[in-house]
Amino acid sequence: MADEASGSRIPGFHKLTREERLRILAQRAHLTAEEQRALEQALPLPLATQLIENVVGQHALPLGIATNFLVNGKDVLVPMCVEESSVVAAASHAAKLARAHGGFTAHADAPVMIGQVQLLGVPDPGAAEQRIRAALPDLQRMANPPDSTMVRMGGGLKGLEFRELDTVRGPMLVVHLLVDVRDAMGANAVNTVAEGLAPVLEELSGGRANLRILSNLADRRLVRVKAVFDVEELGGERVVENILDAWAFADADPYRAATHNKGVMNGLDAVVVATGNDWRATEAGAHAFAARSGRYRSLTRYRRTEQGHLEGELVVPLALGTVGGATKLLPSAQAALKVLGNPGAQQLACIAASVGLAQNLAALRALGDEGIQKGHMALHASNIALLAGAQGKEVEEVARRLVAEGHVRLARAKEVLAGLRSQ
Ligand code: MEV
Repeated sequence: MADEASGSRIPGFHKLTREERLRILAQRAHLTAEEQRALEQALPLPLATQLIENVVGQHALPLGIATNFLVNGKDVLVPMCVEESSVVAAASHAAKLARAHGGFTAHADAPVMIGQVQLLGVPDPGAAEQRIRAALPDLQRMANPPDSTMVRMGGGLKGLEFRELDTVRGPMLVVHLLVDVRDAMGANAVNTVAEGLAPVLEELSGGRANLRILSNLADRRLVRVKAVFDVEELGGERVVENILDAWAFADADPYRAATHNKGVMNGLDAVVVATGNDWRATEAGAHAFAARSGRYRSLTRYRRTEQGHLEGELVVPLALGTVGGATKLLPSAQAALKVLGNPGAQQLACIAASVGLAQNLAALRALGDEGIQKGHMALHASNIALLAGAQGKEVEEVARRLVAEGHVRLARAKEVLAGLRSQ
């Protein structure tokens, strides 16, 4: 296993200047000068005006690189976009712990999305279902044009499911169109198929089609990731027991599960955002999936291995694309994908889920040990120093004094800054 300064291991990366970090990243990922600029300044304004309506500016997030990730035997440096301090450091640290037992082992299902067509006033839902099922080859001919890239690559409409719902507005027949979207996130492809087939489904069912839209509960497109964390590297038996108790708490209590899963999404979403993917879709899918048993539960599971180490597992629906949409349009997303080794959609899902699991492990470890405030304090103090008006070297000095005093408050930061300036 490559464990020194190679692959995704860059000892001391966090101590380098931003420029040095970018230089090393550019070397490792063979980034052109233009790609490096794209990572530094994200979104050109003319492009922003084309992406959404009524544009007046742009909003940026820091882009950091998580180190140490070994996913399915491959080292990968992971771009993460997130405004919260400690997230990138925690993910990198947990990824380092996972390396002793081979890193993360992940599997992503075939990229099958669900398109829903809501049929109202269907006279005989059972008979309608039979007619629609029998028409699958015709529906496939209509939905899968041979000249579409997705179809040429093996994607397209693959199957059907039916749900008879009893709702406050009466019965409804819902047809699920199962569409393999290959390396796309799939919203456009699925919505096109659903809208295109709705008139035929009306005819076959004798009902009226209302909604024709994808489901963000992409539970045909799950990713499963596991990693073993070494009991000694974690800090011993007590730490492992604390993590297991923390997980059991989340699995039993939705109030805790929401925060626990938020920790997973801290890592996962940061990769989703860095690669130009739709984080609202990821969030909606993950939380709906967490509630699939009728109770909102933890997305992760932990257990002891026979050797007494800690195995963590995350299962989550992930509809991520590596072609089309913002992934293609945003220069920073393109550069981020290059840093990741230009993965396909399934490989990207494996990487993002690994970061989610790493993040969750790191949070549970810290919470069951020293708590998270200590780790947050230094960066929080820098933010408070900035808010107080500190500039340049003052930021570090004000933050250092606030942490030393144990009072990270804005009023105190202003006093410390005034003191510094009067010296
Ligand atoms: C903070 O953004 C995330 C945590 O609250 C997650 C958790 O409690 O497990 C630390």
